[in-house]
Amino acid sequence: MKAIILSGGKGTRLRPLTYTGAKQLVPVANKPILWYGIEAIVAAGITDIGIIISPETGEEVKAKTGNGDRFGANISYILQDSPAGLAHAVKVARPFLGDAPFVMYLGDNLIQNELGGLLTDFKEQHMDGLIMLRPVANPSAFGVAEVDAQGRVMRLVEKPKVPPSNLALVGIYFFAPTIHEAIDRIQPSARGELEITDAIQELIHQQKRVEARQIEGWWLDTGKKDDLLEANQIILDTCLQSDVCGEVDERSQVFGRVQIGAGSRLINCTVRGPVSIGKDCHLENCFIGPYSSVANNVTLVEVELEHSVILQGAKVTGIHQRIVDSVIGQRAQLKTAPQRPKALRFMIGDDCQIELA
Ligand code: G1P
Repeated sequence: MKAIILSGGKGTRLRPLTYTGAKQLVPVANKPILWYGIEAIVAAGITDIGIIISPETGEEVKAKTGNGDRFGANISYILQDSPAGLAHAVKVARPFLGDAPFVMYLGDNLIQNELGGLLTDFKEQHMDGLIMLRPVANPSAFGVAEVDAQGRVMRLVEKPKVPPSNLALVGIYFFAPTIHEAIDRIQPSARGELEITDAIQELIHQQKRVEARQIEGWWLDTGKKDDLLEANQIILDTCLQSDVCGEVDERSQVFGRVQIGAGSRLINCTVRGPVSIGKDCHLENCFIGPYSSVANNVTLVEVELEHSVILQGAKVTGIHQRIVDSVIGQRAQLKTAPQRPKALRFMIGDDCQIELA
């Protein structure tokens, strides 16, 4: 059994963060989204992993993620030279996959369920495809499944205007090598891509064994700002362990589960967890409220923050209103004069400089 993780794409729905980086490297609780997928795959016992990269962001993904040693895996990188669809990515990965069955994992997806049980079902029942479904409020934004009374998949459609159900296709799939022939038979969709949804539909058409499981736990597709904040909240809620390595002065107070990386200094701050603060940060006269992640090398002075993600190297000073539901990009600088606007809600891209004077 092998695995491929798709880490290409343009990340248009997370702009401007993705102008300067891969969407799969955007951190959730201070760890790139992509790494949660790698860890889930390794936890299911699969260590032979191919990561599909794009020419634009591939080098960054490679440099950050490495050869897999840190995950106990063996990672190869496979270049997909154009964003021609998920099934096209499988085509490109075919030399890596050979005749092995495989898991295909979209690098911006996160699920609560472990993969082990599904993998056992897939193998023991000799399926050609196993997909996961989850009810969603906006099925038109996803691949959608029509299932019969027994839960068998009758039909799959990609981003239908009139969805046949509210069951979205989760971006994690198990395939036997029969998927390759199905991919060879499909044509590009209206948006010009070879859709994996169409290839699975082709397997169904060929009366191959395709099964679906509805997942109960949370599923996050972190491709958008609010999804990213939600992912951050859920991961901080469920996975964060207290670990204070940095320096917290006697005027500061830390409540609940809080992580503070080495080399970080907190001066006269109140931190109410769950909160993750990276390495080498400087925080002074701040309130850091629940569900906040602050990456490495961030400076926060006189800031109140809650339910927000601050990326590496950002600098925020003198904001006297609470910053909530915000994503602040790498190296962004934000400072304000001491008047008090009523509300601030940001999605600020990398390298932006904003001054509320
Ligand atoms: C892709 C798939 C879609 C699936 C979704 C899950 O969509 O095409 O069927 O429901 O991932 O995240 P995309 O994110 O490429 O729009």
